[in-house]
Amino acid sequence: MKRRSGFQVMMRLIGLVKPLTGYMLLAIFMGLIGHLCAAFITIFGGYAVLNVLGTGDYAAGLTGIFISVCIFALLRGILRYAEQACNHYIAFKLLALIRDKVFRALRRLCPAKLEGRDKGNLISVITSDIELLEVFYAHTVSPVAIAVLFSGVLCLFVGAYHWSLGVLALAAYLTVGAIIPVVISCISGEDGMKFRSKSGELGGFVLDSLRGLSETIQYGNGAKRLAEMNAKTEALAVDEARMKKVTGRNMAVTNTVILVFDLAMLFLCTALYQNGILDFDGVLIPTIALMSSFGPCVALANLGSTLQNTFAAGNRVLDILEETPAVSDITGKEEITFEGANVNRVTFAYGGEAGTADSNMWSAENGMEDALGRRRKTQTQERPQPAQNVVLSEVSVEIPKNTVVGIVGRSGSGKSTLLKLLMRFWKVQQGSVAISGTALEEISTANLRAMESFVTQQTHLFHDSIRNNLRIARLDATEEEIVAACKKASVHDFIMSLPQGYDTPVGELGDTLSGGERQRIGLARAFLHDAPFMLLDEPTSNLDSLNEAVILKSLHEARADKTVVLVSHRKSTMGIADKVYSVEHGRMGRL
Ligand SMILES: Nc1ncnc2c1ncn2[C@@H]1O[C@H](COP(=O)(O)OP(=O)(O)OP(=O)(O)O)[C@@H](O)[C@H]1O
Ligand SMILES: [Mg+2]
Repeated sequence: MKRRSGFQVMMRLIGLVKPLTGYMLLAIFMGLIGHLCAAFITIFGGYAVLNVLGTGDYAAGLTGIFISVCIFALLRGILRYAEQACNHYIAFKLLALIRDKVFRALRRLCPAKLEGRDKGNLISVITSDIELLEVFYAHTVSPVAIAVLFSGVLCLFVGAYHWSLGVLALAAYLTVGAIIPVVISCISGEDGMKFRSKSGELGGFVLDSLRGLSETIQYGNGAKRLAEMNAKTEALAVDEARMKKVTGRNMAVTNTVILVFDLAMLFLCTALYQNGILDFDGVLIPTIALMSSFGPCVALANLGSTLQNTFAAGNRVLDILEETPAVSDITGKEEITFEGANVNRVTFAYGGEAGTADSNMWSAENGMEDALGRRRKTQTQERPQPAQNVVLSEVSVEIPKNTVVGIVGRSGSGKSTLLKLLMRFWKVQQGSVAISGTALEEISTANLRAMESFVTQQTHLFHDSIRNNLRIARLDATEEEIVAACKKASVHDFIMSLPQGYDTPVGELGDTLSGGERQRIGLARAFLHDAPFMLLDEPTSNLDSLNEAVILKSLHEARADKTVVLVSHRKSTMGIADKVYSVEHGRMGRL
């Protein structure tokens, strides 16, 4: 989690408005004129009173004043609508733009930087945090500009009667529109942030509970989990109630301050009148003008309580946008074909210089500086930094073309890590990984992905039909190709036995299928992808020997035009391997 001041967050967020600057200026202009119309409706009322009283000489006359008031009222309505329409157009266009940027960023960060992240929190960043930025774009940027311009015009207007009135008006606007919001934001900012991170945590907790429902039931933890959820919800409700109370108190303070300034204006005008410096209209008009012109500033005063909240959300979104990926996409390299791979004296540790364990991205804590640059206390204690455990040390593996290379080793010895390095999901810290003699850093990402099929230990299935789940491996695959791939993976007969065959929908996370069925679909995807280099991480761990035999036969035959790296614990699986390496304590030896 990067530390940014409220100001830095604001500047970054404003920077994103650039493509919509025209609309923003239009909104500000319409808002300014609209507010001036509103203020001048009351001021013209004052003129009408003066007209009736016969003081002051206003050429327009009563009828003229009434017509002007009507026009102002009409304009006010139209302009207000147009301003709001403009602001919301900007806000929602920008939210779409930001979501797009966030998804792009996630795609860059995937998979290395998403491993082990709190997905519930990530979802709350993608949904509610981005949603909250609407407040910033629709109700913060242009209102601030409008309030500044509008207050400036009114200070000049009032100051035209006597400079001291202008100064008093300026003081009033500054107090209501700047000092009060900053004070409020300092007092209540922490609450807003606490509330956001707590509600993010609750989201994560609920998601976690849903996923682990069967474990909870099996071990009889229901009551405990429910109590935890209730406690979290109640804590949120208490926070919310306190925030509401604070908002009420803030409004009371703002309104009182406004009244005090109205009275001060009245007294100052009266004093100037008594000293013969002002006429009666100089008493009435400035007082009315001030009374009717706090609207834009009050809008800012109300922002004070939400602004820290918005910045906290902005901070979390910026964290994703600015996070550097573990490996960046590579383009523009000369296309190569697969001629074998080799891993040469590779040493690797998660959280090393190329790793990411040092970032606390998307953690519930929200350490950031407030608008005044003070460090806020973080709500949760600092996370312990993971030790840099070396997973692989000086590992070398030779993978000649058209062979099956087996890798064995105890659980946690780094077998999956080795496959991820071959996929270039992570950067190696020492040594090199090369395909066809070219270092992975010198191969375009698209070229690399086209050469490799990777079957992970857990196959993820999307909430879609089996056919569409297979097709993600090759979007233009024909029906025959899909069937052929499924036959190789020994899953065709199973699919055909389902009532809807290949059109059978798969439940979310694929949990309507057995572990072995899921695994075979994962393998079928790899066969369909038809890349020359297959990386298989325990592809048969959930299978009975009959199904395993079919798959091993397919792999054995595939060797004619494919190269396979096969990770497995089973001796039977290793039977088809031409060479077997064993990883022990991060070191690799040939068996
Ligand atoms: N993203 C990660 N961040 C930090 N540590 C990790 C990460 N992924 C794996 N590890 C750790 O690295 C070590 C090697 O993990 P790896 O998944 O490569 O083991 P494995 O040999 O495939 O084990 P298994 O046979 O159980 O699948 C483990 O101790 C694991 O906890
Ligand atoms: Mg593994």
